[in-house]
Amino acid sequence: MANLATDRWSRRDLLGLEGLTADEILAVLDTADEYFPFATGVEPAPQTLQGRTVLNLILEDSTRTRTSFTLAAERLGGRVIQFHADTSSMAHKRETLLDTARNLEAMGLDAIVIRHAERGTPHRVAEAVACPVVSAGDDAHEHPTQALSDLLALRHHVGRLDGLTVAISGDVRHSRVARSNLYGLTALGSRVVFVGPDLFLQGLDDITVEAETATDFDAVLPECDAIMMLRVQFERHEGVDLDLADYRRRYQLTAERLARAKADAPVLHPGPVNRGTELADEVTDGPRSLILHQVTCGVAVRMAALALCIAAAERA
Ligand code: NCD
Repeated sequence: MANLATDRWSRRDLLGLEGLTADEILAVLDTADEYFPFATGVEPAPQTLQGRTVLNLILEDSTRTRTSFTLAAERLGGRVIQFHADTSSMAHKRETLLDTARNLEAMGLDAIVIRHAERGTPHRVAEAVACPVVSAGDDAHEHPTQALSDLLALRHHVGRLDGLTVAISGDVRHSRVARSNLYGLTALGSRVVFVGPDLFLQGLDDITVEAETATDFDAVLPECDAIMMLRVQFERHEGVDLDLADYRRRYQLTAERLARAKADAPVLHPGPVNRGTELADEVTDGPRSLILHQVTCGVAVRMAALALCIAAAERA
């Protein structure tokens, strides 16, 4: 059996970490810890989602997130329907996304997981359907379950999530992971410093909490309890003039640069890693990297998010 923190979670949807209270975030993380022993599928998991059907409406490239939601739901006994945009009526018959979602819901769904290239789409789908909606990332806006995975991995390593200083370094501008982690860590009482060249610290006006920024990574590192690195999102760089050699020189996290941080400060990265760009291999594969642990935490967090939202919808 797993203990769900249903007394601290009453939301039908998980669309972002913006506006969540510390108690709500901890409710998901505590529930994820209950599921963590079952995250890799070695131990048979409690069948919390037996008889439930989850639709994976993943409309943007995804490896980790699609697989992670699928394994999370299936290990808890649920069934997952994979939506494929390229062979759908949406692609060839011009059905709108909201109509597609409503029609699929009419066949009986218990939750929709959605990733979309347009900001706010998960919110629009949530308004259009009656079942729970869990965001798997929208544009550069939010990616709540990724940030919760990062927070769980960090809590496993450091033991707490309050009073920490966390550098989030790299392509902050294009990162939904950076935004969701900022909201989460701020709500929990930690300090976030966004680090990168000016080019990557622009375009943050959508953020609704105070965001500290710094361009000198080496100067920030000694204060950090954890360092979260971001992928340089080349696919979103049309019109962005990045000097890659200069970027590597000033921001790539090498073993030498990492030596400036506190001795036990872990390194996180949501994946996929651009090896040799934001991270040197010796750090990616080194003893302070939590990268693969974050991935395992991701399954537990998605188990918790689906179970809590479905339970809340049922009570409403
Ligand atoms: C992130 C994403 O898609 O936002 N990856 C992920 O979900 N694990 C970050 C990225 O693509 O760099």
